Amino acid sequence: MGALRSCQTYFLISTLVRRSALRYTYRHGASLNERGLFITLEGIDGAGKSTQLRQLAAWLREQGHAVCVTREPGGTRVGERIRHILLGSPSTPITALTELLLMYAARRQHLEEVILPALKRGELVLSDRFNDASFAYQGYGRKLGEGPVYLMDQLICGRTQPDLTLVLDAPPRLTLARARKRSRGNHDGRFEEEGMTFQERVRRGYLAISRREPGRVKIVPAGGSTVRVQQHIRELVDAFMRRQMKRRASRRSIVRG
Ligand SMILES: Nc1ncnc2c1ncn2[C@@H]1O[C@H](COP(=O)(O)OP(=O)(O)O)[C@@H](O)[C@H]1O
Ligand SMILES: [Mg+2]
Repeated sequence: MGALRSCQTYFLISTLVRRSALRYTYRHGASLNERGLFITLEGIDGAGKSTQLRQLAAWLREQGHAVCVTREPGGTRVGERIRHILLGSPSTPITALTELLLMYAARRQHLEEVILPALKRGELVLSDRFNDASFAYQGYGRKLGEGPVYLMDQLICGRTQPDLTLVLDAPPRLTLARARKRSRGNHDGRFEEEGMTFQERVRRGYLAISRREPGRVKIVPAGGSTVRVQQHIRELVDAFMRRQMKRRASRRSIVRG
């Protein structure tokens, strides 16, 4: 009975934290990231994130943008070591909550060492996965639920949230085949080992996030050719950049008065 009540209190608190965080974001506009812009690519393993991110970064650099490319888990020296633990041998047990804490430990270092300084310099930060991956993988995939992930996220990321998130979406039977081809039949890694039903839950997690925040999170069908997916991504990024420029120009004119 006591356990049930503390569980209910916990979920009530986490729902309130989540609502107030969303309300804050809406009231203060999408971008809280000072001068730079923060774009993340998400999706299950083998969806094509790394491939697309490389091409997107090259295209943005051609247009004269200063681009900072990074990835999670990892992105820093200590983050890469945590990545090694997390993606390492599936035979070493790691509980779901420990996995969440390790992810956010790496994320905090990533924020302080790479993302925040680059945003301060006014750069475009492109990250191969960020906090939505924890909602999808630990919240949905590992079935921790959104509550614990929200609490961690408020503590560790706070107001530093992506301005735009592109979720590359494809069925797990396709992405697993791509991922296995990439690793030439070696099914290495904790997440890859989880198989189809786990990947399906993660995919559903990403789709749930995009329904909740349709302004920020865009679904990109990733089953087509690399060229076609890249074209779709560029259209979304282009529209996003135009919106941002308009918003910033109108903010400047308000300030000038
Ligand atoms: N649209 C696509 N069509 C076919 N193969 C693809 C496509 N996108 C990526 N691949 C291939 O699938 C594998 C996984 O892609 P990758 O970009 O590493 O995915 P992720 O970073 O999401 O795990 C790579 O071998 C890559 O060359
Ligand atoms: Mg990758």
